[in-house]
Amino acid sequence: MAEAFNDKILPTDKATRYAAVAEEIAAVLEGEPNLTARMATVTSMLAASFDHFFWTGFYVVDPDKREELVVGPYQGTLGCLRIAFGRGVCGTAARTRQTQIVQDVEAFPDHIACDSRAKSEIVVPVVDAQGRLIAVFDVDAESPAAFDQVDADWLEGILQDTFAD
Ligand code: SME
Repeated sequence: MAEAFNDKILPTDKATRYAAVAEEIAAVLEGEPNLTARMATVTSMLAASFDHFFWTGFYVVDPDKREELVVGPYQGTLGCLRIAFGRGVCGTAARTRQTQIVQDVEAFPDHIACDSRAKSEIVVPVVDAQGRLIAVFDVDAESPAAFDQVDADWLEGILQDTFAD
């Protein structure tokens, strides 16, 4: 099991695993409107599905601040509490509303190193049913180039189904 879902996971196996967890998340959250419960469940179930997800969680748009993210539900080592829009990978995803795949965090200008063990990451913007940005979803791995377009497609789909539909 440990070997099967590490960062060397085959693209087809990865897609199969995402498809299974997407279904499980939808089933668990059916009828649950609370946003924190939804974010915590997505975080827990995705982190449990892939061994190489070293840090998994949400940075939520702070409604009381101008263009600032504050840490939300996550699994992993201590995360930074606040990130301004435009800063680091999360702030770039929030500002551009585009998924960011970073193969080597040390080569990303202005990357925020919450834990020096993180070597690559993916950050996906999260929008609600009205198209408003409510958060970004961040996954970090300890190996370089752990994420690709397969991760982007599945994570975007799961986040859309969970928060915008
Ligand atoms: N690496 C992120 C910061 C968040 S943590 O890694 C948990 C970034 O540059 O946005």
